[in-house]
Amino acid sequence: MQKSDLKTPYFMIDEAKLIHNLEIAKRLKELSGVKLVLALKCFSTWGVFDIIKPYLDGTTSSGPFEVKLGYETFGGETHAYSVGYSEEDVKEVADICDKMIFNSQSQLKAYRHIIEGKASIGLRLNPGVSYAGQDLANPARQFSRLGVQADHIDPAVLETVNGVMFHMNCENKDVDAFTSLLDAISERFGSYLDNMEWVSLGGGVFFTWPGYDVEKLAAALKAFSERHGVQLYLEPGEAIITKTTDLVVTVVDLVENGMKTAIVDSATEAHRLDTLIYNEPASIMEASEQGEHEYVIGSCSCLAGDQFCVARFAEPLQIGQRLHIMDSAGYTMVKLNWFNGLRMPTVYCERSNGEIQKLNEFGFEDFKRSLSQWSVY
Ligand SMILES: Cc1ncc(COP(=O)(O)O)c(C=O)c1O
Repeated sequence: MQKSDLKTPYFMIDEAKLIHNLEIAKRLKELSGVKLVLALKCFSTWGVFDIIKPYLDGTTSSGPFEVKLGYETFGGETHAYSVGYSEEDVKEVADICDKMIFNSQSQLKAYRHIIEGKASIGLRLNPGVSYAGQDLANPARQFSRLGVQADHIDPAVLETVNGVMFHMNCENKDVDAFTSLLDAISERFGSYLDNMEWVSLGGGVFFTWPGYDVEKLAAALKAFSERHGVQLYLEPGEAIITKTTDLVVTVVDLVENGMKTAIVDSATEAHRLDTLIYNEPASIMEASEQGEHEYVIGSCSCLAGDQFCVARFAEPLQIGQRLHIMDSAGYTMVKLNWFNGLRMPTVYCERSNGEIQKLNEFGFEDFKRSLSQWSVY
């Protein structure tokens, strides 16, 4: 299959780039003794889990279906976490998870009897400090519901759990900033941690970012785990999948209303939602900063402000031309939706040997079924 024959829009996951990230993860594990569980909330395209499995220890989740997916398609350790479990959720995952992490002391009290004897029990603590660029994604924001805050901890309750989870980073590329968070946690929660079997430090540590000092991170993690006598975990999502995947689109129209605008056969609202939510423009492979021709790369959805980015090009864009919207895997493929009845991107993986494998394809029937399966009569 030639790439030029593939119908757009489509995602192309590049195996070689994925392995590049995974090799860094492997080195981090070897140097620090940390265990790594993939955060399925970020990336769940299980068709490529065969590539990831040899490098990581398992998966972590945010809802009952992710637990089941991790158990069925990845294996290894299956961590179950949810901000709010129903009793039915807990019962459904109790037999397939290795660790069950509750978000509050009330949930722990209500459901621990279902888990006891089946899985290791954990509680999420909110360290009250964090590294996050935007308030929306800041777990330690004011009135945060994510985890138990230090002054609300009931020491008697903490004595009854095997481990704790902290998640306080979002795309943290600064190893020193991370180690100061570790120090703050040791200082604030150290006496509790000393009695734990394991501690998860959550996700958001961007150790695959170019130039990241992996050795320094590994040394800090090792020191922390030795200080408190715990098995450490990280829950990477974005760090594993970053820079591996393009969303490939075609220019279907060119209009000019004050700015030249290329309309492509995809939309951020349907296919790259975080561009909108976090107001973070996408990057286009074909663009060149010095280019003379500036375009809005506009979506084909009906939302007035729905655009991928503004970019410059060396040559004028043409209808029919393809563009590669880079870094489109994390928190993207898991959030695809059918808004406007747009064509859903096909999902491919380019293997290291050049072979292109189709992982998924969607049609009108999938759209229709996602809306109703039965009619009222
Ligand atoms: C509890 C928890 N663990 C792990 C992650 C994964 O974070 P990232 O993809 O930034 O590594 C998140 C992201 O929100 C999270 O909330």
